[in-house]
Amino acid sequence: MMTLLHILAKAIRNISILSLLVCLGGLCSCQNSSSETWVIGFSQCVDNDAWRQAMLGEMRKELAFYPELQLIYKNADGSSQQQLHDIQALMSEGIDILIVSPNEAAPITPLVEEIYHSGIPVIVVDRKIASKTYTAFVGGDNYEIGRIAGKYAASLLSQGGNILEVTGLPGSTPAQERHQGFINFLEAFPNLYTLDTINGEWEREVARHKLQDSLQHFPNADLIFAHNDMMALAAREVLRQQKDSLGIKVLGVDGIAGPGLGLDMVNQGILDATFMYPTGGDKAIQVARNILTGQPYEKENILQTTVIDSSNVKVIKLQSDKILEQQQEIVRQQHAIKEQLSIYRSQRTLLYVVIISLASAIALGAYALYSLREKQLTNQQLKAQNEKITEQRNQIMKMAQETEEANQAKFQFFTNISHEFRTPLTLILASVDDMLEESQVASGAMKQDLRLMHKNASRLLRLINQLLDFRRLEHNKIKVKVSKGDLVAFLQEVYTAFERTACKREMDFQFIALQPVLEMHFDASMLDKVFFNLLSNAFKFTPDGGKIQVIIEKDTRSNSARIRVIDNGRGMAAEHASHAFDRFYQGEQYQSMGTGLGLSLSKELIERHGGTIGVSSEKGMGSCFDILLPLNAKHWSSDEIAEQPVAQSSNQYYVEEVSQEKVTEEAAVHYQEADTTVLVIEDHEDLRNFLVRKLQQKYQVFAASDGQDGLEQAYAQVPDLIVSDVMMPGQDGLTIARTLKNDLRTSHIPIILLTARNSPEQQMEGLSTGVDAYVIKPFHPKLLLEQIDKLLWNREQLRRRFAGIENTSDPPPVAVPDLDQQFLARVSSIIQQHLSESELSVNAIARELGLSRVQLYRKVKALLGVGINDHIKIQRLKKAKELLQQPDLTIAEVAYAVGFSSPAYFSTVFKSYYDQSPSDFVRNAPSIS
Ligand code: FRU
Repeated sequence: MMTLLHILAKAIRNISILSLLVCLGGLCSCQNSSSETWVIGFSQCVDNDAWRQAMLGEMRKELAFYPELQLIYKNADGSSQQQLHDIQALMSEGIDILIVSPNEAAPITPLVEEIYHSGIPVIVVDRKIASKTYTAFVGGDNYEIGRIAGKYAASLLSQGGNILEVTGLPGSTPAQERHQGFINFLEAFPNLYTLDTINGEWEREVARHKLQDSLQHFPNADLIFAHNDMMALAAREVLRQQKDSLGIKVLGVDGIAGPGLGLDMVNQGILDATFMYPTGGDKAIQVARNILTGQPYEKENILQTTVIDSSNVKVIKLQSDKILEQQQEIVRQQHAIKEQLSIYRSQRTLLYVVIISLASAIALGAYALYSLREKQLTNQQLKAQNEKITEQRNQIMKMAQETEEANQAKFQFFTNISHEFRTPLTLILASVDDMLEESQVASGAMKQDLRLMHKNASRLLRLINQLLDFRRLEHNKIKVKVSKGDLVAFLQEVYTAFERTACKREMDFQFIALQPVLEMHFDASMLDKVFFNLLSNAFKFTPDGGKIQVIIEKDTRSNSARIRVIDNGRGMAAEHASHAFDRFYQGEQYQSMGTGLGLSLSKELIERHGGTIGVSSEKGMGSCFDILLPLNAKHWSSDEIAEQPVAQSSNQYYVEEVSQEKVTEEAAVHYQEADTTVLVIEDHEDLRNFLVRKLQQKYQVFAASDGQDGLEQAYAQVPDLIVSDVMMPGQDGLTIARTLKNDLRTSHIPIILLTARNSPEQQMEGLSTGVDAYVIKPFHPKLLLEQIDKLLWNREQLRRRFAGIENTSDPPPVAVPDLDQQFLARVSSIIQQHLSESELSVNAIARELGLSRVQLYRKVKALLGVGINDHIKIQRLKKAKELLQQPDLTIAEVAYAVGFSSPAYFSTVFKSYYDQSPSDFVRNAPSIS
């Protein structure tokens, strides 16, 4: 649905843009509806008379029907020179056709011919050029007009008479042809005599002047023939000024309709007759259009002429007036059409604009609808998402709240339990103290156990106290109560509490006060905890004989007391130092040393004092804890200041662990008389010593304090069994097990791992490395001893089996590692190869196996229960037994063959091993075999 709407909206948008373009295009094309336009250039010789005006009017009327035709009009004002210029100007304007009415034929002809030859059509109107080199001609037959005029004159002067002729410009063809037609006709009438031929130049005024002169000379004229009506009017005007001129006839040419013009003058009797000479303006345009549009046309378009005199003037005038009226109506209609056309165009444009706007509005509307729909959908989706998120957030908040509540409940429970622990622990400590005091138990192993109990009970109490402090801090139940005192004296006291320990461990323990007295406000019970904790740590991580310093000074820059606790002990790597104050953080060195609470608690307490604590440390080089405590008492509120100095709390539980006499044994190796050797690898000193003490009762025990030490001792001692912790800094128990089990020297040694990791997966991981048993902490020492016994017994069974004592068809008690089976096979093969050599040495075999003499001895002993020498001897004797059964060998030969240097020695050894001499054996052989 969405996609459909989307496509629809897109389509509408595209269509609207398209329609806009189409409409705009259409608008442009509508405005230029005609496909082609043409320019007509019209050169008029003169236009200051009604005839020429009528010609131009007809042209314009005709042009109104053809909007594709455009007219450029030029008037030469009766000058042939000017007309030449005009024509050239029209040509340069790029006309498509030239209409020319030449002023005079000769001057204009060459230019017209040139234009014609250049390919531009030329229409000659009214007056002609001196050649036929033109495209078309439109005009009256002037010779015929002259002839008709002659005929009319002859009819008027039937009795004979004198005639005056007034011509047009002699250079123009109408004047030439009209004159020729007139005189040619009159030649047949000898009683008609032409008195004078005057050049009136087609002009009324010229004709008037010249006639005045002529009539002076020829007062007996009976008829005047003027070549146009204007010159005829001039003749009548001159005649009217003269006496006895009433009967003189005046004839004109043109017969133009309109007031005061030819037709009207005949009607009024001013002229006796006129000969209609049509202008042909409309015809000229029609011919031009035909030429331009490639339609057929006539080259010579001769216009009809007729006589107008009193006999027909009324009818013709009526017709002319009617025509004029119609023409005016046409002009009016044309104007109206033009106006309508312009209205239509503007309305059409408006319509296009409206259509475009409408289309755009529809498109935009559709788009808006689509957008609205999209928006609604998006809003719905967002709303749904929002609801989902809110629901999830509420769930998370609820879960968080539940978790918090559960946590609080757990913490509360934990706090309560911790409280409950304190009393029994205190009682245990008190009882142990009492027992230690008792002289009968205060010696030997029991004393050591009691000290261990005391130490660990103290440790538990200390941890519980720290935890409770934390809880109280968290709930703001520990309030700072400062009182004024000397910080130097206070720290001196703390220092003193550690002095005895330092002395016993032969440590360089220094208290350096750069300021003899530092009076300030502090909560002694809080700082007590902090500095006991810092010093406890320093002692914990600094070896015997190490150096610990407490330096106190005044830091004037920050106006604080500055205390530094510096040791040259284990130190920490940078990544651990940066987390030293994180709660429950246990850096590698702390793994077996504490809970990670002490430093975090110290930091809290220092910060409650408005102070800061930092540490700089380097692994292997030691640590420096740096504390700044503000000296200024101003930041303490009145309820934080105690009136009485607060008694310093006893911090026994902090110092106990380090001030207690060390319960460690002097040496790391614990020799006992027992044959069986056990290696204990455990980094926790107390647990290590505890294990050693327990195992010493039955075995010879070696102890190693870390993985590396453990590996080295395993290779050096090749013990009968190894008990190792899993979690240790450096090499852990799993790594040790994997290394030893893959080494020929130690692969046979049973390994027991001690761990607190008790998930089945973790045990599987341990067992997959070849570990023989897994003992989970906390464990009962008896259980561990039983486990050790069981493994050693299994080994014994295996040994007996390898030694051939047990029935070999029984399955072995434990899986024998491949490495050990291969080892035994190789030992046997080396012995078999060199059996006959009496000097076959243990060293040679050890060398060949890549082991030391001791390692070979221990390994063979562990696997077979006998030393390597005995093993060689047994092999020799077994072979001897086989050989003795062969009848062709003597006892001496057998003795040498199995590597005995003398038959006598062979006999002695054989007898001691098999309880019979070789000769007895040979004798009883069938029964033995
Ligand atoms: C007008 C006119 C007409 C005449 C024609 C001849 O200028 O003189 O009267 O008939 O020219 O070309």
